[in-house]
Parts: sequence; structure tokens; C-alpha cells
Amino acid sequence: MDPTPPYSLRTERLLLREFTPDDLDDVHAYACDDATVRYMDWGPNTLEQTRVFLGEEIERAQASPRTHIGLAVQHLDSGTVIGSIRLGLWPHHNADIGYSFGSPWWRRGYGYEAAHALAAHAFEALGVHRLWATCDTRNAGSYAIMDKLGMRREGTIRQNQPSRDGGWRDTYLYAVLASEWRARAA
Ligand SMILES: CC(C)(COP(=O)(O)OP(=O)(O)OC[C@H]1O[C@@H](n2cnc3c(N)ncnc32)[C@H](O)[C@@H]1OP(=O)(O)O)[C@@H](O)C(=O)NCCC(=O)NCCS
Repeated sequence: MDPTPPYSLRTERLLLREFTPDDLDDVHAYACDDATVRYMDWGPNTLEQTRVFLGEEIERAQASPRTHIGLAVQHLDSGTVIGSIRLGLWPHHNADIGYSFGSPWWRRGYGYEAAHALAAHAFEALGVHRLWATCDTRNAGSYAIMDKLGMRREGTIRQNQPSRDGGWRDTYLYAVLASEWRARAA
């Protein structure tokens, strides 16, 4: 694997790139968005929490070896950072993917476009063998992206996290193997 910064992955409508301090306002716009954080274990953020997050992402980009690739998702036409996407690199060529976007940008294909680009990079450039992701079982948008990426629902982890509404929430585990990714691409 060679997860060397700086990252710059371009898709038809998006640029997945390293965060910069100038992204604070754009990142905060979605990090304080109640709809965006509904199924997340963080947020809605204060401006200070977003500043800390941004600082951590910029610092983690310098780590060697890099085990966390957290990228800003910039909308090419407007220049706005509309969300973020991350790839966690684990032993044995395992990786996990996660993403979040501001609600004004939902349902326009950006989530899938960004996730597909980073998943392709994971398999084709980083030599990932297994890519996994989790989400709240109520988060239909999140697992729709996993389905569309060719990930398979491997199971339901029961009551592993507290729910915002009180009580506990269940989590789906999804994954796709490199062989399955290649077979779909062929
Ligand atoms: C989940 C999220 C990333 C989806 O992003 P998006 O840009 O709206 O997704 P896309 O437009 O690329 O849609 C991809 C597919 O999911 C479907 N989809 C998107 N949102 C959906 C929803 N709420 N319910 C059902 N399907 C949905 C789309 O119809 C599309 O399928 P199709 O191509 O077959 O029509 C976005 O809603 C989000 O950022 N949510 C808040 C953060 C979050 O929950 N992140 C995931 C944490 S695990």
C-alpha cells in the first residue's frame, strides 16, 4: 500500500482532496447540520469542534505510515466543500470507508460518485483486499451507496451503539472483496 499524501482524486463533478484550514466554513456548514449528523456518533458540532476536527484531519494526513485517509469532497462547479469521505487502512489489506455530506447536496449522486472513486482507489492503487463499512440500520441512504458499490450485507450488529433517541441502535456491516470488485468492473 502506498497511501502517500497529498491526495487528489478527481471525478466527473468532484475533487477529493486534502483538507486545508480554509475549509472551516464549508465543513462547519455540514458538521452543524442536524440532518447530516442524525445517524452519526458525533455532532452537531460547535464551530470549535469543527476547527478541532479540521486540525486533526490535517495532522493525520502527515502521519507515516498513513492509516487514515480523510478527504474533503469539493464540488468542482461551485468550489464548495460539500462533505467528507474517509478510508481507514487496517492490517491484512483491510480497509473501511465512511462519508458524510451536507443535506442540501443529497440525492444528486455525489455520495456514490465520491465513494466509488475512493473505493476504486483502495482496490486499484492501494491493493486493498477487503473493504467494509457500517451504518445505522435506519440509514437507508448510506446502505444504498454500499449496495450500489457492490458491497454485501454481512450481518447486523445488535445494539452496539447508543441511539440519539435514547436506547440502543443496530448497525449493518457491509463488505466487498477485491475479487468481487474486479469481477464487477470487468
Ligand atoms: C448517506 C449519504 C452519504 C447519501 O449521499 P447522497 O449523495 O444523497 O447519495 P447519492 O445521491 O449518491 O445516492 C446513491 C443511492 O442512494 C439512494 N439514496 C440516497 N439517499 C437515500 C435515502 N435517504 N433513502 C433511500 N435511498 C437513498 C439514491 O437513490 C441512490 O440510488 P440510485 O442511484 O439507485 O437511485 C447522505 O445522505 C449523507 O451524507 N447523510 C448524512 C451522513 C451519513 O449518514 N453518512 C453515512 C454514515 S454511515
